[in-house]
Amino acid sequence: MTEARPGRTLIDADQLRGKVAELAAAVSRDYEGRDLLVVGVLKGAVFFIADLVRELTVPCELDFMAVSSYGSSTHSSGVVRILKDLDHPIEGRHVLVVEDVIDSGLTLTYLVRNLQSRNPASLEICTLLTKPRHRELPLSARYRGFDLPDVFVVGYGLDYNERFRGLMRIAELDGVG
Ligand code: IMP
Ligand code: MG
Repeated sequence: MTEARPGRTLIDADQLRGKVAELAAAVSRDYEGRDLLVVGVLKGAVFFIADLVRELTVPCELDFMAVSSYGSSTHSSGVVRILKDLDHPIEGRHVLVVEDVIDSGLTLTYLVRNLQSRNPASLEICTLLTKPRHRELPLSARYRGFDLPDVFVVGYGLDYNERFRGLMRIAELDGVG
């Protein structure tokens, strides 16, 4: 049995920095004069969100949710459990949900439905990565960083069994499957 390890680099640190700046500029433009609440999905999105909000030129507040989707370590099942809810109500707020990756889209579909029921003034999604599988779902992320092929990746917040989140690049996972 081989050990799981980061392999080929798909997105390097410079590309990440450039894309985060680009997304932050778009968000700043769109939310000018509006009261923005950035909702991060723990834990994968924390690196992305930390870099993103530091590039914003509009004021924002931050809140976090933690969810777990049941399933194997490389595929989610769509059954989502809220492990940590938001600290504050979002009614009437302009909410931007920040995610690391949309794969099947099942996690975010659940989350968006849940948040919509709390009557925010608006709700948009910003995801660093998208993979092809979610295209069957009526889920649209207004802000998207990179489109990936259907491979499992680690780094910049993304993990395999809680490992490799601190990697300064997005890499394909080797040694599994
Ligand atoms: P979805 O419900 O299939 O869209 O999966 C969403 C969650 O699965 C993400 O927020 C990640 O936590 C995890 N995930 C999906 N693909 C990857 C990957 O390639 N690497 C690490 N985590 C992933
Ligand atoms: Mg995640």
